[in-house]
Amino acid sequence: THGAEVLVASNRGPVSYEVREDGSLHAKRGGGGLVSGLSAIGPHTDAVWVCAALSDADREAVRRSPGGRCLSLDATGGQQVRMLDIDATVHSDAYNGIANSVLWFVHHMLYQTPLEPVFDAEFRRQWASYQAYNRAFAEALAEEAAEDAAVMIQDYHLALAPRMLRQLRPDLRIGHFSHTPWAPPDYFRLLPDDIAAELLGGILGADRAAFLTRRWADAFTDCCHAVLGPGIPSGTRIGVHGLGADADFLRGRSHEPDVDERMAALRAEIGAGRKTVVRVDRTELSKNIVRGLLAYRQLLEDRPEWRERVVHVAFAYPSRQDLAVYREYTTEVQQVADEINSRYGTVGWTPVVLHVKDDFARSLAAYRLADVALVNPIRDGMNLVAKEIPVVSDEGCVLVLSREAGAHEELGEDAITVNPYDVVGTANALHQALTMPQDERAERTKRLVAAATALPPAQWFLDQLHALDPHYSS
Ligand code: G6P
Repeated sequence: THGAEVLVASNRGPVSYEVREDGSLHAKRGGGGLVSGLSAIGPHTDAVWVCAALSDADREAVRRSPGGRCLSLDATGGQQVRMLDIDATVHSDAYNGIANSVLWFVHHMLYQTPLEPVFDAEFRRQWASYQAYNRAFAEALAEEAAEDAAVMIQDYHLALAPRMLRQLRPDLRIGHFSHTPWAPPDYFRLLPDDIAAELLGGILGADRAAFLTRRWADAFTDCCHAVLGPGIPSGTRIGVHGLGADADFLRGRSHEPDVDERMAALRAEIGAGRKTVVRVDRTELSKNIVRGLLAYRQLLEDRPEWRERVVHVAFAYPSRQDLAVYREYTTEVQQVADEINSRYGTVGWTPVVLHVKDDFARSLAAYRLADVALVNPIRDGMNLVAKEIPVVSDEGCVLVLSREAGAHEELGEDAITVNPYDVVGTANALHQALTMPQDERAERTKRLVAAATALPPAQWFLDQLHALDPHYSS
């Protein structure tokens, strides 16, 4: 038979391109939790990964390659990738307009509701693009898939694609996976009724709809009852698959020479004999970076004994910079960090070491040096950083973790739990973490690592494939 037996679809693929000065194309690995999780599929299957061209360089790469297939299989780990050259305006309306400004905001409950959202005619116009974008994926998947193939459609960008694909290819086994939280019904119903129903109906076009935690799966079911009435149709099963950290990869990668180099540089920035509070995030509204900085500031204010003795290492990598609120948030993060440094800093001590340029090796160096990991999102589907830092840290670390992160369901018992809005409570948690006795810290780290690595990405992926089609055994 023709076509692939296993297909994955997501907006961001495992590879993105840059045009060099001489006009040549250079491939890089894609970023974010979804891509980290799915990168495990390469060695196990002959899967085809369908994704969107995200930039002009990506579009150029598609135009230069036969059938939109990326040629540099090295950069994708040998993965076959088909990139879709979707019209740039349609893509921007769907990705920036609907997916990231509406659906992300709904599921993370980020609206300032006295003024937003406003679902006006412009929103309806963008919605038509979101439909067209989903249709482009459904058509490409229908083209690529072998008879009876398993298709795994990822995330809020592609909520309509399962039903569209089902209509084109009733033979396929279709799964949808949400990497985000799911909003509770009262919040989900901010959306216009017809749109809310279309989104749920889109996902229910799959044989199986899966989530990172029970909490998000239950919220989805509750939304189906609230919006659609009868709830989940008998043809759709609901699943939960918590994604874990890839311990083997992380341990190996974090001991390569480029990470050692970054550690030396970072140690010099931190200064000898100081404790570290480490965070690494996309500069993302839901990650709550500003309140994290305010909590650290409160710690320095309330407990002057920590001045000169601790450094907050905060990496906040640029994300979704086409959106004004993300640009403003990035500026805010920088301003608050500067303000703390000018108020408390001394000649030999910079209280906040903030880096905004994406550097994976440097992130791993910070993980290794972490005494305390600060992960305080407002809401988060899982949060892999919370799982990665304990695995990589050289001396073991104390995890300060928001109860609103999906990871809290698995790690809560051995972390110090915080309410992400409570800045004073978070400051106290940081103090507790910094003063935790070494033996307790070691014990907790051991249990955190066990929980964090219980479901490595390869297993996470195979479990889903197996649930969709028992023919693939795990
Ligand atoms: C989250 C989403 C992913 C997304 C990632 C990075 O993890 O669930 O779907 O890829 O953020 O965001 P970006 O907009 O840069 O792809």
